[in-house]
Amino acid sequence: MKHLLNTADLSLEEAVLLLDTTAQMAATQGREIKKLPTLRGRTVVNLFFEDSTRTRISFETAAKRLSADVINFSAKGSSVSKGESLKDTALTLSAMGADAVVIRHQASGAPHLLAHSGWINVPVINAGDGTHQHPTQALLDAFTLRRHLGGELVPAGELPAVMNGLGGDLRGRKIAIVGDVLHSRVARSNVFLLHTLGAEVTLVAPPTLIPVGVETWPCAVSYNFDEVLSDWKPDAVMMLRVQRERMSASGGGFFPSPLEYSRLYGLDARRLDFLEDHAIVLHPGPMNRGLEISAQAADSKRSVIVEQVANGVATRMAVLYLLLAGDTTPTSLNASDNT
Ligand code: CP
Repeated sequence: MKHLLNTADLSLEEAVLLLDTTAQMAATQGREIKKLPTLRGRTVVNLFFEDSTRTRISFETAAKRLSADVINFSAKGSSVSKGESLKDTALTLSAMGADAVVIRHQASGAPHLLAHSGWINVPVINAGDGTHQHPTQALLDAFTLRRHLGGELVPAGELPAVMNGLGGDLRGRKIAIVGDVLHSRVARSNVFLLHTLGAEVTLVAPPTLIPVGVETWPCAVSYNFDEVLSDWKPDAVMMLRVQRERMSASGGGFFPSPLEYSRLYGLDARRLDFLEDHAIVLHPGPMNRGLEISAQAADSKRSVIVEQVANGVATRMAVLYLLLAGDTTPTSLNASDNT
């Protein structure tokens, strides 16, 4: 694995290695000294052409916890606003000695272009491209699901069945992904990764927010959230952000209306009551509270939304470690490596 661009490219072995390495990284983050010397002397560039809070900060934290130097580049305030191309930006970063590039871009396919253009010859990590892919989000989601559902099932809010996520098994677990699938790189990334890990996925959305070609994805599709909750009984419900900014950019309005959307597809206290005892609630953030998820659902004991954010750091440490240190067995993570 030279780059991380698309969860559909990951084999089961690669996905499991990434998740098991995340578990090992997470274990190091419980220590008093969290920093590891693994990437000392290496430089990670965070190249963000689109806004981000969680992904950008957690990549920066992850790189620093591995002792790498970090250069943060955001399109706003850079020469991109003067019209500089992706190619010239890449050549500039290469000249500055980048050892890995983390890229978020509004154009689907931009990370693939960067990885395969020949402009730079370092690992490229997709931090979200247009409506296409967000692989590290899917990995952190899968890691979170593994911790809670990867072993014996216990009531939500109690101690997770698999405390460290190492070796957790998602085969046969049922995940409902609900909301604005049309614009969601998180949904697409999760569908392919969860399928590889053996989970069953049902997408739930109004017909207007389901992408063309979804029939080729390895999942089921439903337009009826209540039916999925009461009949299919998912082990986890992953709510998606309604991406109003992409709806306006494409000239489309918000259909159904926010009120209808919330009534038909929002996760509220009534729908929480449909869930099995052990079922958990995820959301990649940022949330539109009161639209796709109510405050009661977001803050309930079933919610693992804050844990997802914390798991993002360990996930991104694992990705940087495997792509930059090149090891397949992270034997260098024991306590004596702390500095
Ligand atoms: N989940 C996610 O990608 O959040 P940010 O846009 O804040 O990075």
